[in-house]
Amino acid sequence: MAEIGTDIQKVKRLLEQGELVAIPTETVYGLAGNALSAEAVLKIFQTKNRPHFDPLIVHVANLEHAHLWVETISEKAKKLASQFWPGPLTILLKKKAIIPDLVTSGLNTVGIRCPDHPLTRSLLEQLSFPLAAPSANPFGYVSPTQPEHVDNQLGKQIPYILDGGACIVGIESTIIGLDSEIPVIHRLGGVSVEEIEECIGSVRVELNSSSDPITPGKLKSHYAPKKQLKFGELAELLKSLKTDNLRVGALVFRTKSSALSAEHQLILSTTGNLEEAARTLFSALRQLDEKDIDLILAEEVPDIGLGRAINDRLRRAAFD
Ligand code: TXA
Ligand code: MG
Repeated sequence: MAEIGTDIQKVKRLLEQGELVAIPTETVYGLAGNALSAEAVLKIFQTKNRPHFDPLIVHVANLEHAHLWVETISEKAKKLASQFWPGPLTILLKKKAIIPDLVTSGLNTVGIRCPDHPLTRSLLEQLSFPLAAPSANPFGYVSPTQPEHVDNQLGKQIPYILDGGACIVGIESTIIGLDSEIPVIHRLGGVSVEEIEECIGSVRVELNSSSDPITPGKLKSHYAPKKQLKFGELAELLKSLKTDNLRVGALVFRTKSSALSAEHQLILSTTGNLEEAARTLFSALRQLDEKDIDLILAEEVPDIGLGRAINDRLRRAAFD
């Protein structure tokens, strides 16, 4: 298993030697390596068992650092960065040649974000290179929001996990592209569509554009637990159950259903708070995956604010 601790100097040394380290962010834990080293980046793909057509996000300490790795930062991008960085927003920008093609899967844009976590920001300020970091889970599985989640799955393959506690946002960053006249949201995430539109005006949301192999966060099946999962209105899901002897668990929004065993149900937020629900989502899915059940029913949450990102993740987790 990996060493879990808060020794930033040790993490810095490991990264400088080309090793990978798990780092905390406000969204989910990342599997980080030197973004300027094709060798370190290759190791990231191998460790996650991630296909090479899935580009990585590059993490920087602040907007000034971002200038080092991209050609230009448009006014709209600056406006977004000044409002939402540090925070859960990834902006697609034209990359400089120094960023290896492997990072971007050959695309000429690179996803850049400044994560909002004191340990990781301090680390990034001390490094002479940015960090490529996908979520620290095997490809296709639920993202990790606690150091133990990372250790359980990747602990044998990496030397160190920087312990920043439980992630406070709990759902991955929103990804936005600014190439076209109307900005495009490629992945719903920790910054809501409403917040973005308040900052820069109308955007288009283009998820799931089906055969698009370059953004697997858009793949229909992703973020999935090992158990079968069904997503929708709880009453409908319960009605659709065919066999009585299936051991069924549920991920519910505010209240447990009397139709199922209470111990097999987890609540996202008793007060109906979508921020709390996002924060709880991935660890609840992991807990349900460990329970003695065959099927997970996941209740749809209100489709506003962070609720859209939560429903998006559950819909993909349900796709098989
Ligand atoms: O919150 C987050 O974004 C977390 C933390 C660790 O920062 N990272 C994360 O990375 O979720 P990952 O690799 O699990 O998801 C990154 C997504 C992928 O779906 C990838 O296809 C998309 O970002 N992406 C990265 N660069 C892109 C680009 N240049 N154009 C389009 N999509 C891109
Ligand atoms: Mg991921």
